[in-house]
Amino acid sequence: MIVAPPLEKITCIEDLRRVAKHRVPNMFYDYADSGSWTESTYRNNETAFREIKLKQRVAVDMSGRSTQTTMIGEKVAMPVAIAPTGLTGMQHADGEILAAQAAEAFDVPFSLSTMSVCSIEDIATHTSKPFWFQLYVMKDQAFLNNTIDRAKAAGCSALIITLDLQVLGQRHKDIKNGLSTPPKPTIANMLNLATKPYWCWHMLQTKRRSFGNIVGHAKNVSDLSSLSSWTAEQFDPSLSWDDVARIKDRWGGKIILKGIMEPEDAELAVKSGADALIVSNHGGRQLDGAPATIDKLPQIVDAVGSDIEVWMDSGIRSGQDVLKAWALGARGTMIGRAFLYGLGAYGRAGVDKALSLIHNELDVTMAFCGHRDINTVNRDILLPGTYPTADLYR
Ligand code: GLV
Repeated sequence: MIVAPPLEKITCIEDLRRVAKHRVPNMFYDYADSGSWTESTYRNNETAFREIKLKQRVAVDMSGRSTQTTMIGEKVAMPVAIAPTGLTGMQHADGEILAAQAAEAFDVPFSLSTMSVCSIEDIATHTSKPFWFQLYVMKDQAFLNNTIDRAKAAGCSALIITLDLQVLGQRHKDIKNGLSTPPKPTIANMLNLATKPYWCWHMLQTKRRSFGNIVGHAKNVSDLSSLSSWTAEQFDPSLSWDDVARIKDRWGGKIILKGIMEPEDAELAVKSGADALIVSNHGGRQLDGAPATIDKLPQIVDAVGSDIEVWMDSGIRSGQDVLKAWALGARGTMIGRAFLYGLGAYGRAGVDKALSLIHNELDVTMAFCGHRDINTVNRDILLPGTYPTADLYR
């Protein structure tokens, strides 16, 4: 068995990923660390960032730096929020609670997925600042309305509506692994769990092992064990902009629209009155063959950047990626796998570590580029010819 290195030896998100791979049962590790079909979009999200080159400046005052800014009016220590990720509580027992606490301590927003293991109420009980809730649009109107009302009652400060998961992109590994929550007691699963004592030890100490936002709240759910069956049965494939308007009315607060990849949709997002949109290909988990989000970002910023806050996710594994996204006009970013690896590897301490690694990389890179305040950074820090422009896919 591999012994996980002490946290002080962890120096990058890739280190966290390696430890998570050893500690987390294969089916949950694979669930996080995979894209749909050929995974070309999943891989391209990361490689596209590496193509972008930074301009080094020297003999510029680099003292007293700040990465603080705001996202939808909320003060943040850096323009990074924890993304809503499904089954987070299966990367580590009580995973959503631990990640929310880490985000609160770091002063960055936490978003809870509809498909979480810990419930909306669990997060509210274990944190003191408002968090964001991500809504999947379900066919069951009573369940949908009740979920919105629960998020309101829990004091959530924004509702994220995910627009790109009306149907589920096929992820080969999940099918092959027989992904389910909790894992079914098959021989293969038992053998695999026997090699994951860290995960099992923590999981034995919690009762939260199913979809906490759904169990006990949704009626007539025949098969909740797998995300694919639940999606096929419950997610609304007929979702439209009228539904967005209806949800916005019922919610009555700030709205963030996630999954926008084209300027036409960005314009509709603005028209809907949303407060922010997230340029996202769902971490390469939905439409394989879609471009990297960082490559699409400038086009969306060009189309609507002065009308709405434009954020991005998908592919961020370092603070340098955050800075590049910011330089290209993203006023916020979201991390999914980067924090999930930390969580799976070391629980709460791993999420703390992921956030501090990203912050440190962001801060130091900003300094090398000659800036002390993130709010002054723009695309002048990027070498022309190496970064995507609004014309890239026109
Ligand atoms: C859910 O959001 C997923 O990508 O699995």
